[in-house]
Amino acid sequence: MSETMLLVLLLAFNYLFIAKGETADGDFTTLLSLMDTWKNTPPSWVGADPCDDWDGIKCKNSRVTSITLASTGLAGELSGDIGSLSELETLDLSYNKDLTGPLPQSIGDLKKLSTLILVGCSFNGPIPESIGYLQELLFLSLNSNSFSGQIPHSLGNLSKLYWLDLAENQLEGPIPVSSGSISGLDKLHHAKHFHLGKNNLSGSIPPQLFSSEMALIHVLLERNQLNGNIPPTLGLAQGLEVVRLDSNSLSGPVPSNINNLTNLQDLYLSNNKLLGSLPNLIGMNALSYLDMSNNSFKPLDFPVWFSTLKSLTTLKMEKTQLQGQVPTSFFSLANLQTVVLKDNKINGTLDIGSTYSNQLRLVDLETNSVDSLKQTDGVPNVKIILKDNPICQEIGEVGSYCSTSQSNVSYTTPPNNCQPGTCSSEEQIPSPNCICAYPYTGTLVFRSPFSDLDNRTYYVTLEEYLMQSFRSHSLPVDSVLLSHPTKDSNQYLELSLQVFPSGQDHFNRTGTFSIGFLLSNQTFKPPKVFGPFYFNADKYEHFGNPGSSESSKSSNIRILIGAAVGGSVLLLLSLLAGVYAFRQKRRAEKAIGQSNPFRRWDTTKSSTGIPQLKEAKMFSFEELKKYTKNFSQANDIGSGGFGKVYKGTLPNGQLVAIKRAQKESMQGKIEFKAEIELLSRVHHKNLVSLVGFCFDQGEQILVYEYIPNGTLKDTLSGKSGIRLDWIRRLKVALGTARGLAYLHELANPPIIHRDIKSNNILLDQSLNAKVADFGLSKCMVDCEKDHVTTQVKGTMGYLDPEYYMSQQLTEKSDVYSFGVLMLELISARRPLERGRYIVKQVKNALDKTKGLYGLHEIIDPSIGLESTLSGFDKFVDLTMKCVEECGEDRPKMSDVVREIENILKSAGTNPSDESPSISSSYEEVSRGSSSHPYNSNDSFDLSAGFPYPKVDPK
Ligand SMILES: *[C@@H]1O[C@H](CO)[C@@H](O)[C@H](O)[C@H]1NC(C)=O
Ligand SMILES: *[C@@H]1O[C@H](CO)[C@@H](O)[C@H](O)[C@H]1NC(C)=O
Ligand SMILES: *[C@@H]1O[C@H](CO)[C@@H](O)[C@H](O)[C@H]1NC(C)=O
Ligand SMILES: *[C@@H]1O[C@H](CO)[C@@H](O)[C@H](O)[C@H]1NC(C)=O
Ligand SMILES: *[C@@H]1O[C@H](CO)[C@@H](O)[C@H](O)[C@H]1NC(C)=O
Repeated sequence: MSETMLLVLLLAFNYLFIAKGETADGDFTTLLSLMDTWKNTPPSWVGADPCDDWDGIKCKNSRVTSITLASTGLAGELSGDIGSLSELETLDLSYNKDLTGPLPQSIGDLKKLSTLILVGCSFNGPIPESIGYLQELLFLSLNSNSFSGQIPHSLGNLSKLYWLDLAENQLEGPIPVSSGSISGLDKLHHAKHFHLGKNNLSGSIPPQLFSSEMALIHVLLERNQLNGNIPPTLGLAQGLEVVRLDSNSLSGPVPSNINNLTNLQDLYLSNNKLLGSLPNLIGMNALSYLDMSNNSFKPLDFPVWFSTLKSLTTLKMEKTQLQGQVPTSFFSLANLQTVVLKDNKINGTLDIGSTYSNQLRLVDLETNSVDSLKQTDGVPNVKIILKDNPICQEIGEVGSYCSTSQSNVSYTTPPNNCQPGTCSSEEQIPSPNCICAYPYTGTLVFRSPFSDLDNRTYYVTLEEYLMQSFRSHSLPVDSVLLSHPTKDSNQYLELSLQVFPSGQDHFNRTGTFSIGFLLSNQTFKPPKVFGPFYFNADKYEHFGNPGSSESSKSSNIRILIGAAVGGSVLLLLSLLAGVYAFRQKRRAEKAIGQSNPFRRWDTTKSSTGIPQLKEAKMFSFEELKKYTKNFSQANDIGSGGFGKVYKGTLPNGQLVAIKRAQKESMQGKIEFKAEIELLSRVHHKNLVSLVGFCFDQGEQILVYEYIPNGTLKDTLSGKSGIRLDWIRRLKVALGTARGLAYLHELANPPIIHRDIKSNNILLDQSLNAKVADFGLSKCMVDCEKDHVTTQVKGTMGYLDPEYYMSQQLTEKSDVYSFGVLMLELISARRPLERGRYIVKQVKNALDKTKGLYGLHEIIDPSIGLESTLSGFDKFVDLTMKCVEECGEDRPKMSDVVREIENILKSAGTNPSDESPSISSSYEEVSRGSSSHPYNSNDSFDLSAGFPYPKVDPK
């Protein structure tokens, strides 16, 4: 038996018999499962209660809410079981370079997750689409991994996102923006940071990415393969402070309105193929760092307006065809520090003047045509470089300005009034306070500092900020040591950081996890001049000596194991083995049930793979037989072309509707699986949800939540005995619209329902609408475009005429059907009745000069015409827009939702108020009033009218 197995054994024993902790069982099992695929988990992960004593785990009400495990040397893959930690809010696994493999799809199940940080690991494969489900996500850092593939469009659904860092991966393809109902990064109106540099992104920069609605301050797209023009919309994102577009293949002219960006501090356009004249940047009064080197601008005299950029610290214009002389006034800019104009055609005399900036440190005009220098004796504190200019080519010319020896800034935090000695251990280092200790180390990377930072003062300030941040978070830090500032080829400033512990010579795990998180979560904010940054920590391994309190637990375990193996407690051992076997079995069952429900029948290793199921459960046929009393007649609640629907009761008491397909109408395994996958992906209170399925003994059965009040059709026809007043009808319309808007605009990938009609709208006990029957639904991914060409399916009367003619399916076809449904809500008439088509009827009767638009005849009398139909006109206007001939003229479902909400609000009703006031909203009326138009039986439905979702008949 391996040691880990014994440990698991013992854990199980602890857990089941000795000291069952407070942590919820499910979360405990999930953590064990994460441990299974990880090496080097903290030694404290042995106790029975993760919430109480596991390092890096935090809980609320016995549920795990936070996992932070920075730089602990964690190795292995992230188990898909992570998705079960449904209360998790923070996940930080940063700086574990041996964490590899793909991110599991189930990450999308972490509905409460607000912070996901995986900086500096080695995760690979695509970024899962399912991240788009994380509606609470504020902070997403996946930078410095090996992710590949495209940036998923679904990220556009993260409406609360504030921080997006995907830099330094191998992402490719275009920057995703929204199109039709597909979302994209332009929807992230709260995002302030798009850090996408150092990937292989291609295509052009989408104009939609920038608008006045965007809150962006940092846009970093450097070192990709982007091409095309810089979009003029850039000038609309007024909040921008840092824009890096350098080292791409951008071409065309720089948009002239770029000087609209009056808050911009850093602008990098270098190393592209930009053409035309140099952009005029007059008015960019915040601009501090400007690099336009290596482009193909037209030859131009050194522009006078450079001298108006009053915040400028750094100007880099290498190889940009600049000519003429540099005006002396330019060097008087008060903040100017660095001027690099290599490889141009600057000529004449270089004159720094006498009123030059006292910050000025470097004027580099290497390889130009300067033939004389005014200040031949040099300028205090300023390095002038004129190598490869005529002035240095004259024989005997040996001025100091003819060499390039450029002193790099060097900086190391000095000792703080003490004399550092030598440390006893090799790995210990004296802190600035001269105490030997094992520091927590790593590299601070500043991606876009606002100046060249070649002044020690900056680093001293940075140290102060760091210490202040550690102190204010009560972290046990004695001091920090910064050293080796260097600029890499991407102009990132890198700086080595060592953080020293206080009180003892090492940190414990809680300490390193907290310091790691403070830096990975950007809780620490450096002085503004440093610009956007990230930290990449090294592994920390100095958690104290053997015998310290931390390792005592595991040694206790070893003693106990020793005793057991020694033979004195054989009984205990067999008991443990039993427990272990039991847990293994339970886990194995869970694995079959959760991650691969198709294992039993998918033995042929078909190319379709394992379905991605979210919450759907697999039932055996025997189980369902039991729940429906052997599919008894009494439990039969309906039937249709495809088979029958039974009411059933699960062991936990939940009522379900069980749809059992007839042999003739069964679909192929792949289609069935696709339908289940689709259904299990959608979760919305206005959509009927899938509870489970059965693919057993040749059956195809779907299990849905049971919706007690039946179909809207039965209600409107008076069959179900429920009366809907006007407000209730508006609410049914709203619920349906919300369900559809979810399918079109939030489901990922988007879904077109294709069969919206009154018998696919179910009403729950509070008469909330729930959209059912996704049998015909099509998702819109495979098509890439906005439409799906497909065999026309649907129900006559509801069918979008445009779709019918063109066979091009778009989400606007659902909008049409929804419009017909609205007419049904008004009239309680079938859409097609004795050859009369309701859309035409209403269009003909409509007279906006009259009360109720002249539709008295058509309005369902049971609405209660005695009361005012508040917002009726607006509702009809909206309806008519939905049934416009041309899909383009119809509104999007989210617009429909908003409009109905407005109608309800002006009717004095809170649209989000779900509870019905039973007495006024609906009442039982005598069943089956025969005068009702619905009772005529001439149906034109193509598909059998049936309350529950059905398998698409073949
Ligand atoms: C400049 O920005 C303002 C504010 O966003 C915007 O209204 C205006 O259209 C922009 N001007 C140009 C020329 O882009
Ligand atoms: C510098 O170059 C410009 C344009 O190439 C030219 O017109 C001018 O005469 C030159 N000046 C000197 C002093 O050589
Ligand atoms: C560094 O910057 C400070 C403050 O901006 C300034 O006072 C000082 O002269 C600078 N020192 C050097 C060596 O440039
Ligand atoms: C870890 O260190 C902190 C601060 O030094 C201390 O408060 C805490 O009790 C330590 N935790 C353990 C498990 O030793
Ligand atoms: C992460 O940092 C942000 C500020 O950048 C802060 O508001 C948030 O509370 C931090 N998260 C946690 C879990 O401390």
